[in-house]
Amino acid sequence: MTARGIDLKSLTRKSKKGDWSFFKDKPTSRSDRRRIINEAWVLPRPRKTKYKGGFPLHFEKKIIRRMGLTPNDLILHPFGGAAEYGLRFDIRRETRPDIQCDAHFLPVRDRALDGVILDPPYDDALAETLYDTAKLRPLKYSQFVREAVRVLKPGGMLVVYHYVTTPRVDGTDLIRRVFLETRAWHRLRSVKIHRKHGVNSTVQGRLMEEAKA
Ligand SMILES: C[S@@+](CC[C@H](N)C(=O)[O-])C[C@H]1O[C@@H](n2cnc3c(N)ncnc32)[C@H](O)[C@@H]1O
Repeated sequence: MTARGIDLKSLTRKSKKGDWSFFKDKPTSRSDRRRIINEAWVLPRPRKTKYKGGFPLHFEKKIIRRMGLTPNDLILHPFGGAAEYGLRFDIRRETRPDIQCDAHFLPVRDRALDGVILDPPYDDALAETLYDTAKLRPLKYSQFVREAVRVLKPGGMLVVYHYVTTPRVDGTDLIRRVFLETRAWHRLRSVKIHRKHGVNSTVQGRLMEEAKA
């Protein structure tokens, strides 16, 4: 089966046993923390699909560029909704995902993807009122983040999009924060880009180009 030109079978997880060795890595050093880039964006309301909780207009394109990736790289949205670029997984069939599954247990092999973008429901009450999903699967932040890191290639990029500021992610370095405003009386969004430990020279090269531009 293919989705957006990607052979889904080649990504599939063969056994339930994952490689969690990235957990043992050391936290970001003080000198690395000094290199974190902070920026603020103001973007218009969510795009025309009007999917509840959908990303603001232009958000995906901009964040993918900041990740050092292009829409043609292997990018996954485990909480897919109506995301535009990359693979969309979602627990609800109505969203017509590329794979219907639970973001806490991704059916993807270790170190398969260039980027993962996490835009979960922000809590179980919202999950229930907006998507009717809390009964299916109560959210466990630490578990779906851990899964996201597991499926990333070394040097791969993880984005966490939330309405509260989110903590450090084991096995990664925080490289960028974006504070995002959309419209009046809406909470600012905190968007963090974390890089999984290990080297990915293509992505590093692109990020250096982006920094020079
Ligand atoms: C905030 S929305 C994502 C919106 C998306 N970023 C967009 O631009 O359209 C969250 C999505 O997560 C899905 N969801 C909720 N719980 C889930 C779970 N345990 N696993 C996978 N998807 C889940 C919901 O069905 C919903 O589509």
